[in-house]
Amino acid sequence: MEQIDWKTLGFDAYRTRTVVISRFKDGQWSAPEKTETFSFTMDPFAQVFHYAISCFEGLKAFRQKDGRIALFRPDQNAARLQRTAKYLGMPVPGEDLFIRMCEECVLENLVFLPPYGFGASMYVRPLLMGVHPQMQLTPYPEAVFAVMCAPVGSYYGTQLKSCAAVIPGNYDRAAPKGSGSYKIGANYAATFMPYKIAHEQGYTELLYLNSCTRQYVDEFGSSNFFGIKGNKYVTPLSDSVLPSITNKTLQQVALDLGMEVEKRQIPVDELAGFDEAAGCGTAVVITPLSHIDIKPVLEEPAVSRVFRYGPDGEVGPVSTKLYKRIRAIQDGEIEDAHGWCHFI
Ligand SMILES: Cc1ncc(COP(=O)(O)O)c(C=O)c1O
Repeated sequence: MEQIDWKTLGFDAYRTRTVVISRFKDGQWSAPEKTETFSFTMDPFAQVFHYAISCFEGLKAFRQKDGRIALFRPDQNAARLQRTAKYLGMPVPGEDLFIRMCEECVLENLVFLPPYGFGASMYVRPLLMGVHPQMQLTPYPEAVFAVMCAPVGSYYGTQLKSCAAVIPGNYDRAAPKGSGSYKIGANYAATFMPYKIAHEQGYTELLYLNSCTRQYVDEFGSSNFFGIKGNKYVTPLSDSVLPSITNKTLQQVALDLGMEVEKRQIPVDELAGFDEAAGCGTAVVITPLSHIDIKPVLEEPAVSRVFRYGPDGEVGPVSTKLYKRIRAIQDGEIEDAHGWCHFI
């Protein structure tokens, strides 16, 4: 194994050693197996390839200050995967199986778990795929549930930095009453091209509006939105955003810090009234924004509106405080009063 530089790790599909797999067939899940081939073999007609019958989760394991290993809120990820699997008509892995396989995956790949003190962690990626070979558009009770992991860096190093986001006037993420609130692979497919175009223009994030009326903020392509207004933490209430576990955690942290939390529709105009605005998700916890541009057509230069939250790179005090608090709980530096850490 090559020596990993924990300080310079990014957020990449780093190849570790073991993938843990269970198969659903004939009405039951098989005992989890470990494989070191790092590949799947499937029928070319498998549902997953043609009809995107696939969903996933993302959670992290941390080596804490006292040496213990903690998965952060895996019960929440298990519940969300179950909700998504039901939506797709797939076999549903139980919470016990989900957590056991995540634990096993981390333990089998322990040499890749970043030590405490580098801001790095182990990203754990459970994946559920429909593997039955078929042409019909109907569910079939056959699936592979696999858990893999990769060491990932803190993204920001020691210092949070803000970045730019764009609202693309000519792209939507999720249809009304569609699949937006489920963690299915197909939702992400629709964001690949707009992300490429946005990145080429120097934007880190894409902020989508509700596709029905385009009057309210929904979420980013890869994370939820929150804004800070005085002592309030405000986050969208919408049927088409993913119920983010980081957002849920931050709402509790905000309450613990004496803030008020509002979960409600956020009209686009209200973006002008926030002191701070950010994305939140497992991968980077918080993505603070320096500004959000609205571009009627993403591919064209015209910007119709700019909402500014501070100079490029700078981060507001509330986002900084929330970020530090949640990271300190994950790293075992302060009390985990809500029992969010699941020790392996
Ligand atoms: C579209 C989308 N929204 C929100 C999130 C944040 O969810 P969580 O905090 O559970 O990682 C993610 C990332 O996982 C995401 O892909």
